[in-house]
Amino acid sequence: MTTHLPTADAQDPESSARTSRLRAALLAAAFTADGLLDLLGAPAYAALARSETVPALRATRGGGPLETLVRLFLLQRPVPEARAAAVLPVADCLADGWLVRDGDELRATVDVRPYAGPDGQDWWIVSDLGCAVGGAGGIQGAAGVDRSQLVLGVGGASTTLAGITARRPVARALDLGTGSGVQALHAAQHATRVTATDLNPRALRIAALTLALSGAGPAELREGSLFEPVGEETYDLIVSNPPFVISPGARLTYRDGGMGGDDLCRTLVQQAAAHLSDGGYCQLLANWQHVAGEDWQDRLRSWVPRGCDAWIVQREVQDITQYAELWLRDGGDHRAAPEEYAARYDAWLDEFEARGTKAVGFGWITLRKSGAENPSITLEEWPHPVEQPLGDAVLGHFARQDYLRATDDAALLAARFKLAGEVVQEQVGLPGAEDPEHVVLRQSRGMRRATKVDTVGAGFAGVCDGSLPAGRILDAIAQLVGEDPVLLRDRTPASIRTLVEQGFLEPVD
Ligand SMILES: C[S@@+](CC[C@H](N)C(=O)[O-])C[C@H]1O[C@@H](n2cnc3c(N)ncnc32)[C@H](O)[C@@H]1O
Repeated sequence: MTTHLPTADAQDPESSARTSRLRAALLAAAFTADGLLDLLGAPAYAALARSETVPALRATRGGGPLETLVRLFLLQRPVPEARAAAVLPVADCLADGWLVRDGDELRATVDVRPYAGPDGQDWWIVSDLGCAVGGAGGIQGAAGVDRSQLVLGVGGASTTLAGITARRPVARALDLGTGSGVQALHAAQHATRVTATDLNPRALRIAALTLALSGAGPAELREGSLFEPVGEETYDLIVSNPPFVISPGARLTYRDGGMGGDDLCRTLVQQAAAHLSDGGYCQLLANWQHVAGEDWQDRLRSWVPRGCDAWIVQREVQDITQYAELWLRDGGDHRAAPEEYAARYDAWLDEFEARGTKAVGFGWITLRKSGAENPSITLEEWPHPVEQPLGDAVLGHFARQDYLRATDDAALLAARFKLAGEVVQEQVGLPGAEDPEHVVLRQSRGMRRATKVDTVGAGFAGVCDGSLPAGRILDAIAQLVGEDPVLLRDRTPASIRTLVEQGFLEPVD
């Protein structure tokens, strides 16, 4: 049986009214993230997020309204028409193709998954059946859909990007490679106009369904590769969770960019500058090759376009075997015949060998179009847990870079600083020892950074309450520890800069 996508059309008032009635029915039955958690309980809810349906099937045997919706839209089970009619405007759903008849029963044509917005909004993400979580390997039921064109729901990468995106009000936002439309949906909350592009026309139709069902304004949907569909247009915010997987061939549009190695991510970064308005941000997730004889930081630095500041965080590095296995499983190749699996694995390793690739880095890239002659380019490895959302931390990073760029050492010593609210001090040393071996300042929020400081650094940070200039504090410390104040003033600005750069100290003015 071939599955067609729903035809709901936000431009057509009648179809739009039908979508509103469907949304009202979903809400009335508590088909929301909270409602699901209540119905399924934490273990079955978490299992569903891992693509495991058995616990949720057991929890929805009762046939109540919410159970019916879970079975239809999340578990791809047909339900008797009378039961569907008790909870949904069935005629509307049939008219727009959300449901189709299957013998005496009705079944859904797409996965519709409750998704909580950042301010508690009840949203729904539409995707292909069986593709709401995980990759194409988990697919069970999208009969008639060309596998290469499958549209996935929200995965870990989607929520990571949504979390790190700077959410300031902007005029124009671009979601490049929109897929289910999740990033466009977030952007619609703080951008006056949202453009969403995708190479896959099915994705654009599905993104339109996500936006309409979630009650967001429509986005301008444009089909095409990378920046091709937007011509010369510029944006205040560009977000992209692109098909970053480095693979031996383009088989799955949602993940394989179809360009060699990490060329798709590089092209995206290099071309972004021409599509950013002044002060605009481009935020994307990317994978990059670690090539023998080359520092990954040099590789990434060479990607950053002129006129842009950049903050690049490498979150994880996988060796090529782990990487190949991850994506072989994602595509379901581990279920193929052993020889076929081995041939695919071999092809992956051949590709890496040909490119001299030893490992693959995964991380976040943020560009800001500053036009600065000496752009600030920060590359770092930070594999530790962070506290999302980090959108404000991203804005804070660039604001601090601006401050440090404009403040020489004399001005730094004349400035006053405050210790950031969420910083604690840890002392590390042998039990019973009078003095610690070293002191660590640790943030309990945001990037959750930790940095080693000496006793002067710890004393300085502890006294920073915004009332005294940094130089005066150093003079007092010098007296206390019997050090020459001139020397101390001379050697400390570098450490103050690090503490400011990493967000431990905030300039007061
Ligand atoms: C990893 S999915 C991301 C989907 C969604 N934005 C999210 O965050 O969950 C990548 C998307 O990029 C699209 N895509 C693939 N190649 C592309 C290209 N050359 N240009 C634009 N989009 C592309 C895929 O169809 C897919 O929808």
